[in-house]
Amino acid sequence: MLIHIIEEYYLKEKVAIVTGAGSDGFGRRMAKAFASKGADLVLNDIDEKGLEITKEEIQKKYDSKILTVKADISNSAEVDEMAKEVSEIFENVFLLVNNAGIDGGLYSSLKAKEALYDKVMGVNVKGAWNVTKAFYRVMKRQREFMPIRGKIINIASCAGTQNGLNPFIGIYSASKAALIAFTKLWALELGPSDITVNAISPGVFLTPIYNNDPKLIRQFLKSRGVKLPIDKVGDPNWVADIALFLASPAANYITGQNIIIDGGMCVSINKI
Ligand SMILES: NC(=O)c1ccc[n+]([C@@H]2O[C@H](COP(=O)([O-])OP(=O)(O)OC[C@H]3O[C@@H](n4cnc5c(N)ncnc54)[C@H](O)[C@@H]3O)[C@@H](O)[C@H]2O)c1
Repeated sequence: MLIHIIEEYYLKEKVAIVTGAGSDGFGRRMAKAFASKGADLVLNDIDEKGLEITKEEIQKKYDSKILTVKADISNSAEVDEMAKEVSEIFENVFLLVNNAGIDGGLYSSLKAKEALYDKVMGVNVKGAWNVTKAFYRVMKRQREFMPIRGKIINIASCAGTQNGLNPFIGIYSASKAALIAFTKLWALELGPSDITVNAISPGVFLTPIYNNDPKLIRQFLKSRGVKLPIDKVGDPNWVADIALFLASPAANYITGQNIIIDGGMCVSINKI
């Protein structure tokens, strides 16, 4: 028997923060998806122009209140400034999506330069840590949203999973493994405050990180001898759908998990 029917606008009067929301990759798609369920939005990126486009596209369709904040998430002072701005405009932060990430180029981990290590780890790991540190206290206080006071979603990667560790993008791969580890740690640390923390690990999706070029993705897969059991390059809206599910009441009892969405890529590596 279905005992819980999800209201259509289950994010109404709830604020969702999305980092890396200036790109027409997962960030913009997730922001649109949350707006479609009634959320107000904080859109963060270093790309101000991209943020304006995301904001305009959303405002054409939805009446979400939107704050755009240009801030480099790897810089804690900028993140703290963003948190201050958010607190001046909004009274809650229900959803935090740590989505901003960079791949840093094709380097095996030991051939990468120190500057690249610092940059990739700085955005993908320290960035998510900075932003989570800046907002978890607000979430903890939000009794009005019981049974769950807040939700955190980390956008990791197949490359951060045990099967998917990728020597072609070594530092990136290690950074996403660290983000998956933080997902589990934060689920433990924040569970007692009724905050869920989960990760989504995409496989290969057509976004600006791959120059929106399916050929580039196919070449990348071929060079590693990887086959996709469901032989399609991913559509970023599919990741937005998983984020919507995690943001919905249907996922209230899910925490500390890493949801892999990859057409079976991770399970197939070295097998087919
Ligand atoms: N596209 C894929 O196939 C794929 C697969 C697995 C994981 N991912 C992950 O998904 C996330 C989004 O990827 P995408 O494909 O949409 O990438 P994208 O490059 O299109 O978007 C990333 C956004 O993050 C922003 N950004 C970069 N550094 C930042 C910083 N220091 N502070 C704030 N914003 C910053 C960029 O300006 C950009 O707008 C990333 O974490 C990426 O690692 C992507």
